[in-house]
Amino acid sequence: MTLKGARERRVRTGGVELCVAELGDPRQPTVVLVHGYPDSMEVWSEVAVRLADRFHVVLYDVRGHGRSTAPRPLRGGFTLPKLTDDFMAVVDAVSPDRPVHLVGHDWGSVQSWEFVTVGRTKGRIASFTSMSGPSLDHFGHWIGARVKRPTPRRVGQLLGQGARSWYVYLLHAPALPELAWRGPLGKRWPRILERAEKVPAGAHPAASLPSDAAHGAWLYRDNVRARLRRPRPDAFAHAPVQLITPLGDAFLSERLYDDLDTWVPRLTRRALPAGHWIPRTRPDQVAAWIDEFVTSVEDGRPETKATGRHADRFGGQLVLVTGAGSGIGRATAFAFAEAGARVVAVDRDAEAAARTAELSRLIGAPEAWAETADVSDEQAMEKLAERVHTAYGVLDVLVNNAGIGLAGSFFTTTTEDWRKVLDVNLWGVIHGCRLFGARMAERGQGGHIVNVASAAAYQPSRALPAYSTSKAAVLMLSECLRAELAGQDIGVTAICPGLVNTNITATARFTGVDAAEESRRRQRSARLYGLRNYPPEKVADAVLDAVTRNRAVVPVTPEARGAHLLSRFMPGTLRRLARLNPNP
Ligand SMILES: NC(=O)c1ccc[n+]([C@@H]2O[C@H](COP(=O)([O-])OP(=O)(O)OC[C@H]3O[C@@H](n4cnc5c(N)ncnc54)[C@H](O)[C@@H]3O)[C@@H](O)[C@H]2O)c1
Repeated sequence: MTLKGARERRVRTGGVELCVAELGDPRQPTVVLVHGYPDSMEVWSEVAVRLADRFHVVLYDVRGHGRSTAPRPLRGGFTLPKLTDDFMAVVDAVSPDRPVHLVGHDWGSVQSWEFVTVGRTKGRIASFTSMSGPSLDHFGHWIGARVKRPTPRRVGQLLGQGARSWYVYLLHAPALPELAWRGPLGKRWPRILERAEKVPAGAHPAASLPSDAAHGAWLYRDNVRARLRRPRPDAFAHAPVQLITPLGDAFLSERLYDDLDTWVPRLTRRALPAGHWIPRTRPDQVAAWIDEFVTSVEDGRPETKATGRHADRFGGQLVLVTGAGSGIGRATAFAFAEAGARVVAVDRDAEAAARTAELSRLIGAPEAWAETADVSDEQAMEKLAERVHTAYGVLDVLVNNAGIGLAGSFFTTTTEDWRKVLDVNLWGVIHGCRLFGARMAERGQGGHIVNVASAAAYQPSRALPAYSTSKAAVLMLSECLRAELAGQDIGVTAICPGLVNTNITATARFTGVDAAEESRRRQRSARLYGLRNYPPEKVADAVLDAVTRNRAVVPVTPEARGAHLLSRFMPGTLRRLARLNPNP
């Protein structure tokens, strides 16, 4: 298969002929993409096209794969020093004068670790981005440390990785992998990937190349046992490294990288919820992280700016928060900004949204924008979605937070009051989920939707019938949507805070009383919320945690957690409590 728009050449080295493809302007920094097993350079096609307008992108079929020839004899033809010879030959051909930015996936990453830790490549590699393929030397030391000092935790880590490595043992068996790939496995491979990894149907190159996969067994046989038994003691990286870890990798445990800082002086960590084949399933995110890292190294600052918790997870992601002009929304926008996300701050109050965006940039967001919209206005939301998708892209995280307070008994709540609170608190969330969620699902690269409900969603009261109803609806909407979107790797979370010290009390409406009494009640609840003094920043932390852990329902504040437990195990008690407290 030829990569669309690519220029091709053949590079001869050590008795093989390598097929090399190039995209983009050769005057730009060169990014070399090295594929894994059982793939060919095609595995990078989606990432390569996304990088080609800013970089000189180079791909090659590893010896014995795709359209590169195989060494003869096969045994001993795939050793790491020989693979390093190939890499050097390619780099000498495509970028003789400037060091290249190396990117490897799976076995492409395993071999790239060799390239970036041996002396003869010094000065030829500007940076290395590693995905799903550890250094065999580091892996050898990792095993050694756990065998020498076997605490229960370390033994657990060893057993965990051992169980994930079943295929490595099989690949060492003589003839078996060759027979399997040329027979049933070769035929079923695309279906296996489609089911287990959600790699789009027909999108995997190995589908047509079972003989490559058979050759590739020699990658394991020629290297794995020897290196794991005798890892090199000086396998230090001589270039900055970006490690991208897919958290759902069936073959590699995240724990493998615990000791990596020892070997890599300049390390940037990234993580994303996805399976092993991220170049296929998450090309937008992978390309964005490569772009950001390569650019920062070229600019002379190899470490990322963001220092906040979860910077590994949200750096560079596009996050939109509604109601971002105040309280929980503003704190959430700031927490994402601190983690290095690109933030869209939406509020009906234009000035407040602009202030949030401005401060987000100061805090660490590489980019932040303010947008004015009333979430209850369907047309305004449609226009907002159109603007956001065209100007900034498809969201990685959507936080439907905008909401208003409404207190007062059922019979003092007018239909107009009902409409208002449902329009903002429920319809606002529906519009957000529909307009932004649809594009997320259509893109097919995962994402997350957070809906800010409330403890009032599961805690009945005679004081907040309309508000509680709106929040209960948001909670159930979130649960239903979570079920619907699970198959597309889009998580949905309902956040349920208790009393949080924000401005909500100042704007909440109190029904059935005159203006003076309403003002008194506002002041009284503001005092109560102030005394409780639970900061919105803690809710923001809970939002980021919930997204990283893909949690369904998250009560925040002790009283919200307590009420949640009661609602599940002692609902009668909660109902009795609901009869108290008529005046909020
Ligand atoms: N503060 C609490 O105790 C508490 C408890 C549980 C749930 N919540 C929920 O948290 C969310 C945020 O509330 P907060 O406490 O931060 O309140 P807040 O009043 O401090 O902030 C709400 C923000 O949303 C904006 N907003 C309101 N209506 C809007 C609309 N129609 N379109 C666009 N923007 C709009 C406001 O301008 C404001 O900037 C709400 O959904 C609220 O129901 C708050």
